[in-house]
Amino acid sequence: MRTITSIKNAKNSEKLVMITAYDALFAAIFNNKTDMILVGDSLNMSFNYAGDTLSVSTDMMIYHTKAVCKGAPDTFVITDMPFGAYLSEQAALKNCTRIYQETNSNAVKIEGGKERANIVKSLTRNSIAVMGHIGLMPQFVRSEGGFKIKGKDDESTQKLIDDARAIEDAGAFCIVLEGVKEDAGKAVTKAVSIPVIGIGAGRYTDGQVLVWSDMLGFFEKFRPKFVKQYLNGADLVKKAVEQYAEDVKSGKFPNDEFIY
Ligand code: KIV
Repeated sequence: MRTITSIKNAKNSEKLVMITAYDALFAAIFNNKTDMILVGDSLNMSFNYAGDTLSVSTDMMIYHTKAVCKGAPDTFVITDMPFGAYLSEQAALKNCTRIYQETNSNAVKIEGGKERANIVKSLTRNSIAVMGHIGLMPQFVRSEGGFKIKGKDDESTQKLIDDARAIEDAGAFCIVLEGVKEDAGKAVTKAVSIPVIGIGAGRYTDGQVLVWSDMLGFFEKFRPKFVKQYLNGADLVKKAVEQYAEDVKSGKFPNDEFIY
């Protein structure tokens, strides 16, 4: 199982792989298959069909993290801190302490750059491991008027670099970089000595993360450009359920094999 040290040491030597999970069933399938599992607040969109991640609560994240930790006891698990749970150092400490005390999560993830560095610092100084998240930050969707790709010009790229450095200086062990042009992804990755895990950030980051229901083809509402679909999950399940319904209606199931 990964540790903070082995994740940090992976920089410049191997690519890191992260996947999201929201429940024990799928976490058990993913256990030991990736370096890290993120209990992402994306669960609100893919699991709960909300339009954004903003209505997630700390209680919800605790519920889902407990399930994921049970299913994947051998994988490094990170809990996404929900919108509103880290508006001040005090609130962040209180809510992240709950995550550590009520679940087996190994770390928390916080969205925000320079402006959130004081929060990251206060958490890491109090023994809470923090993964940063910069670039396209889904929790800023309403204040920014949509999901906006970053790093399109020098100024925006420099801001990403400054944000990444501030988060690193504050003690984060790793950073998620989402929705940026590939050149910006490369520049940010080069600018810090902790691993940068990309999602829609091009080829040059230290690793990749994908949302499980996107990459396995279960989420059908939309597919972002950066998602490679490794399975047609929804189609496979639909075919299986249709077959089950047909078998029951035709009397094919249950047959001798399935009765006491
Ligand atoms: O909530 C989430 O799943 C995330 C990933 C997209 C990185 O933050």
